[in-house]
Amino acid sequence: MGSSETFSALMLRERDGKVSAAMEEVPAADLPDGDVTVAVEYSTLNYKDGMILKGLGRLVRSYPHVPGIDFAGTVESSDSADFKPGDRVVLNGWMVGESRWGGYGAKARVKSGWLVKLPDNINSKRAMAVGTAGYTAMLAVMALEDHGLTPDKEGDVLVTGAAGGVGSVAVAILASLGYRVAASTGRDSEHDYLTDLGASSIVPRAELEETPKGPLTSERWAGAIDNVCGPVLANLLTSIRRHGSCAAVGLAAKPTWDGNIIPFLLRGVNLLGIDSGFCPIERRVTAWNRLSKELPLAKLDTMTRVVPLAEAPDLAGEILAGRVRGRTVIEVPS
Ligand SMILES: NC(=O)c1ccc[n+]([C@@H]2O[C@H](COP(=O)([O-])OP(=O)(O)OC[C@H]3O[C@@H](n4cnc5c(N)ncnc54)[C@H](OP(=O)(O)O)[C@@H]3O)[C@@H](O)[C@H]2O)c1
Repeated sequence: MGSSETFSALMLRERDGKVSAAMEEVPAADLPDGDVTVAVEYSTLNYKDGMILKGLGRLVRSYPHVPGIDFAGTVESSDSADFKPGDRVVLNGWMVGESRWGGYGAKARVKSGWLVKLPDNINSKRAMAVGTAGYTAMLAVMALEDHGLTPDKEGDVLVTGAAGGVGSVAVAILASLGYRVAASTGRDSEHDYLTDLGASSIVPRAELEETPKGPLTSERWAGAIDNVCGPVLANLLTSIRRHGSCAAVGLAAKPTWDGNIIPFLLRGVNLLGIDSGFCPIERRVTAWNRLSKELPLAKLDTMTRVVPLAEAPDLAGEILAGRVRGRTVIEVPS
């Protein structure tokens, strides 16, 4: 790489406690340490990207900063025996885009141990249509299965925050695996969208926000994937069927819930934490291979829109307000 080489990136700068974003030409020599350099083609807008673009949650401690918690692209150069130029790769998490520069630039340099080779049938754009949200949805499904969920269990599988990124992919995967999916959304406008993704019923968010009548209510859900926490999580835990599980993925409503231990003690309910960021590499490879086979690509396409990198900052407030539907792919200029 020549010393004068530059690449286009969306750079975050902080001034007087305010974070601003602008497209810049960045010297390639400024890339962080790592043994693989990737020509990034696509990144995505995840909920966490929204927080980072707005300078929230103290996720980024040092500026100037290139955000983007995931990316897909092609290996440009590698000092690792595991990757060679031309390999198509995907990265999710590992604090990339938070404590290190991320995928909102035409080049990224990372550790080889963080990269997953893309399955042949997923191109870079579709990999980012899946993105961290979709890969996390797959991890949540895998966790529920590890704890005994099968499509023949009585009851529907509930997905909360269903019209968001994790929720949309979770609905599509579960439906294609043969589960009956109850999709919970706060948006009346998204009912048809969720039914088209495979939901067999819609649960208005307000219904799940009600305070349950006791620590146990009638057994309803075979399992659940919760993206919102708060009163919705408190409510759904009271109606998970005996020995069923809830995968705790997100906090779109709030990070706390007013919980009761009784469902865990008297029904053997499991609350399963999902951590996509530091998930071991073998499980990532399994998740991506399963996504390549079990997520119907036509459904993935219907939940996806593609926007240029320069427009990402305008969408940050939208995703934080829960107004983005499905997945947003960010096209990174070469
Ligand atoms: N554990 C992990 O490793 C991991 C990985 C990825 C994401 N996450 C977290 O998972 C959550 C979902 O991520 P995402 O990318 O799917 O975000 P997203 O696209 O913004 O979707 C979140 C959805 O939650 C619902 N929602 C928004 N505000 C709400 C509120 N105040 N109360 C109740 N529901 C609300 C909305 O769905 P409806 O309109 O359909 O109700 C919204 O579309 C986020 O909290 C994110 O940080 C965690």
